[in-house]
Amino acid sequence: MPGVGAMQHACWMHAYKGLLDDAFLSQLSPEGMGMYHGRHFDAAGKHAAPRMPFFVAEMPGRTNPIVGLVRGGPTRAKSAAGDPVPPELVSRFPFELFGIHVAHDLHRSGIGRALVQRFARAALELGENSLILWVLSENKPAIAFYESLGGRPVGNCPLTLGARQYPQTAYAWTTLAPFAEGLAPGARHTH
Ligand SMILES: CC(C)(COP(=O)(O)OP(=O)(O)OC[C@H]1O[C@@H](n2cnc3c(N)ncnc32)[C@H](O)[C@@H]1OP(=O)(O)O)[C@@H](O)C(=O)NCCC(=O)NCCS
Repeated sequence: MPGVGAMQHACWMHAYKGLLDDAFLSQLSPEGMGMYHGRHFDAAGKHAAPRMPFFVAEMPGRTNPIVGLVRGGPTRAKSAAGDPVPPELVSRFPFELFGIHVAHDLHRSGIGRALVQRFARAALELGENSLILWVLSENKPAIAFYESLGGRPVGNCPLTLGARQYPQTAYAWTTLAPFAEGLAPGARHTH
């Protein structure tokens, strides 16, 4: 998934510079990120993993038309590096948004909100009515984004990336009902 990898890589380089170690960031590549996502898709391009919504936002006409990504699934008990998640959060919030990324030149244009909205509706369709996600505690723009959508902090847990640990905060929604109405919390009505 080269378009997804290129978008996510550029997004991370912009958003995480100064938040994550340069040594960790410099080993990431668009190709590696694209392959990471591609392993979940079958030869026909269908997402092969059950109960794992994966949506992209596309803007035809751009050099890379992939401008956003959201994905998630059943709540993970450990991070990729094995950091354990507080078990009470795993049982209280069984569905997780793993990641969301928007092309950095399009931030604040409503794409992230639309992606969370779509993801929450997919979770509802899967019978889930709550959601958790993890965000670097220093990622203030993302925290403002989640709070604008009604997410609230529910816990903390470190994340190991490369040679360092970073504090993370869990944000959660105890109900997804507001998303079912087709208008994300914080979204403005336009007439
Ligand atoms: C976080 C992210 C996905 C938000 O996507 P986005 O498309 O820029 O967000 P939206 O335009 O839908 O914003 C919706 C609302 O969130 C809030 N918000 C979003 N970004 C914000 C910021 N930088 N500062 C303050 N509030 C912000 C605002 O209330 C905004 O509504 P408004 O623009 O009408 O005021 C995007 O900034 C991103 O990709 N960041 C880098 C990767 C990342 O940190 N991902 C999250 C990892 S946990």
